[in-house]
Amino acid sequence: MSETIYIPLGDSAELTESLSRQSGGVQGTLETRTFPDGETYLRFADDVAGRSIALVSSLSDPNAKIPPLLFAAQTARELGAQKIGLIAPYLCYMRQDARFKPGESVTSRHFADLISQSFDWLITVDPHLHRYKSLSEIYAIPARAIHAAPLLGDWIKRHISQPYLIGPDEESRQWVSQVARIAGAPCTVLGKQRLGDTDVRIAPDGMKPLGAATPIIIDDVISSGRTMLEAVRIAAAFSERKPIVMAVHGIFARDADLVLEREGARLVTTNTILQRYSQIDIAGLLAPEAAELSAL
Ligand code: R5P
Repeated sequence: MSETIYIPLGDSAELTESLSRQSGGVQGTLETRTFPDGETYLRFADDVAGRSIALVSSLSDPNAKIPPLLFAAQTARELGAQKIGLIAPYLCYMRQDARFKPGESVTSRHFADLISQSFDWLITVDPHLHRYKSLSEIYAIPARAIHAAPLLGDWIKRHISQPYLIGPDEESRQWVSQVARIAGAPCTVLGKQRLGDTDVRIAPDGMKPLGAATPIIIDDVISSGRTMLEAVRIAAAFSERKPIVMAVHGIFARDADLVLEREGARLVTTNTILQRYSQIDIAGLLAPEAAELSAL
């Protein structure tokens, strides 16, 4: 079969270029523009008939990106694409994984249904799996989650001589403990209480003076930044060193990055969502998985 065509949507061009090169595929183009009324125009510049294609789109700011993504998949199907994969380095709509109050929409399931109807496979990086154990609980297509922990651990080993890792909440334990093992660093996990979307309280339980160690707070995602802000304040109370705030996915809603920087933190993320803090490249982890799934 001919090479897979990797096609970026939105701001995923750089990642797609690296991904297509490392997986032995070719890069394609989806022409898009916005009509005056806000609707999206789409056109595949490549002949996708009979081809395996992978759309690459990091799904932060999801409500703007989802309609064009689904239209693109439908169009590729109509044009005769043989297989259509989705590489979403950041996968949205994983947060609402239960009906906490009567009448609530469990959007994680509905979004998974939409994607499963439109695509043949999915690859993402560290999705927010909390009540679901794996993507297969909600996705009906082959769906793989790649883990960035080895890259985070490796970055710490190369850049920080005496790290001390901190997980801001119990959910972060799965990432922090793995990164700590790889980096050969001690770690602790704090207790967080979420009172609202932007209201979190974290207790400093388990913290002790860090001496010359650099505190590195690690989470899967920084959204409003409130979790990290609380954790940075705690780290600052136990250390004289500038804390590092590290996450796989840096959403940084409403200038949360600037707030964290003003609080004295140094920010480090992967490029699942491209930022000026994206010092860790995940293309090398995605490429072999993409090559394998698109060849199935
Ligand atoms: C929650 O369990 C996640 O792991 C993150 O801690 C959370 O999503 C961060 O959200 P925010 O930046 O809005 O506090």
